[in-house]
Amino acid sequence: MCGIVGYIGNKKASPILINGLLRLEYRGYDSAGIATIENDEIKVMKNKGRVNNLYELDGINDLVGTIGIAHTRWATHGKPSKENSHPHMDNSNSFAVVHNGIIENYNELKNMLIEKGYKFLSATDTEVIPNLIHYYFEQDKTDDDKKILRAVKSTCKDLKGSYAIEILSIYNKDKMIVVRKDSPLVIGKGNGENYLSSDIPAILSYTKDFYLLDDNEIVELSRDEVKFYNQDLKEIQKPIKSIEWGALSAEKDGYEDFMLKEIYEQPKAIRETVGAKLDNGSIEIEGLNLTKEYLQSLNKIYIVACGTAMHAGLVAKTTIEKLCKISVEVDIASEFRYREPLVDEKTLCIYISQSGETADTIAALKLAKSKGAKTLAISNVIGSSITREADYSIYTHAGPEIAVASTKAYTSQVVLLNILGIYFAEKLERVEKEIINNLKQDILNLPSQIEEILKDTNQVKNFAKKVYKEKDMFFLGRGTDYAVSLEGSLKLKEISYIHSESYASGELKHGPIALIENDVTVIATMTNPDLVEKSISNVQEVVTRGAKVFAITSEDIKNDGLSQVIKIPKTNPLISPVLSVIPMQLFSYYISKEKGLDVDKPRNLAKSVTVE
Ligand code: M6R
Repeated sequence: MCGIVGYIGNKKASPILINGLLRLEYRGYDSAGIATIENDEIKVMKNKGRVNNLYELDGINDLVGTIGIAHTRWATHGKPSKENSHPHMDNSNSFAVVHNGIIENYNELKNMLIEKGYKFLSATDTEVIPNLIHYYFEQDKTDDDKKILRAVKSTCKDLKGSYAIEILSIYNKDKMIVVRKDSPLVIGKGNGENYLSSDIPAILSYTKDFYLLDDNEIVELSRDEVKFYNQDLKEIQKPIKSIEWGALSAEKDGYEDFMLKEIYEQPKAIRETVGAKLDNGSIEIEGLNLTKEYLQSLNKIYIVACGTAMHAGLVAKTTIEKLCKISVEVDIASEFRYREPLVDEKTLCIYISQSGETADTIAALKLAKSKGAKTLAISNVIGSSITREADYSIYTHAGPEIAVASTKAYTSQVVLLNILGIYFAEKLERVEKEIINNLKQDILNLPSQIEEILKDTNQVKNFAKKVYKEKDMFFLGRGTDYAVSLEGSLKLKEISYIHSESYASGELKHGPIALIENDVTVIATMTNPDLVEKSISNVQEVVTRGAKVFAITSEDIKNDGLSQVIKIPKTNPLISPVLSVIPMQLFSYYISKEKGLDVDKPRNLAKSVTVE
């Protein structure tokens, strides 16, 4: 939530900052602002609404400072408004701060500062930060080049919560200070210039060399140098990491929206996820070395995540239980972490997070670790926070996902989780090799099968045109078709704002069927030949009650009597969600377009949920 950017170099900072913010807008888009230093003065410009609204401000194009910080906001404390937008300044206008995260004890700190005579102009938690820095700066009677660093260090000691903070100060006009705790921040190394950002894609067009910050590290950036300090202000060295993603991967590349681009990127993303893992012999996964003995000792596997990532976990439950004969529990991270889950050294806990920065998922991982379980993170972002906490980390390699609605992250997670299931199964030897080999082949076929589905999207588009004005829709399925229906329903809610529910078909008669009336839309997924007869009966029950059904089935499945049917290529039901989700993603996309909504930045949402 919230995106921050920083620049120090010899170029005009403001266009670089605004460009960076535009790329980070998926993290929040309630208001935006920038600050630069010019003529011994910190100049702040901010506005409510989208980043582009900054261009409405008088003088925005006249900013000539070559050092600056910037912020796009997803409001937590204080409604979206100009006053509550970042950057925030201290009372003496000596320090400007942008902040991503939440200061949990801000009220207490604010009261303390008010008692000392400080005044507050916003309703944000952030405003305590520049004022605290100012307070400690004034208290410090020594005058050396570490004075601001000391003030920042003391401030951080007082802060409870999560933060990535960038600080500008008129007391050192050629340096910028940065600190993070439980909130993402990367530093991009340039030549005579340095960049900061909440994530890599936003500054990928300027550099491919990055430093990844750890919690509580304080960084001092100048044009030619990046100095790292631990929380005791002892200088430390950090390795530089080169990122392989091309700059184009963070561009729309001719597509109308990032979401559409990312839907079409799925074949490529899955090829990258699979890599050479299935090429020959038993599966090896880089970053993972679990022994047969350890796997045999397990009595439970937990898969924990949020939103779409959790839905990917639900698909994997079926695979792992079937191939490994180990019970798998899938849980929502925000529930798991507050529930005293039964986890010990005989539990393997798998955490899925595209961004690797989701606060609840990270906290859930830390909890399991403290109880002695081994933890395995699945992420798309190399070096993300979750991967630095986990015992083992494996990557989906899907390339940057910019649209708020997850698409390629989901399909690549389902694929990687299935590969993981096979990896376990090969060691455990609890099922016949043939089952495993067939699944491997089916995984390898997925990219070209997705390409097949994407060749003609007219049927989905036409159905979306017919139903886009509706208020409620229902998704039905059994087994993995139910798991993918949950994802289809989430997609519809988040980008088209249509209320929808997903039910396991067998549950229909236990209540939900009361909601089915004339002309209600039902999306029924039926790809598993073993379950299709039962599913068809459930579909008939809703048709009889007047529902219009849009069915997603495999080409080998008979669908007598259904008028709207989209056929997807035949595959193993364990991985069929990778194919059946494609029409669902497109359906939500086209509905959103018909309604004229912002597909990539749906209301109230942000890509990366870095606060609880
Ligand atoms: O980055 P993460 O995978 O941890 O994000 C988890 C959810 O916030 C995310 O999957 C969300 O549900 C999707 N944006 C929905 O499309």
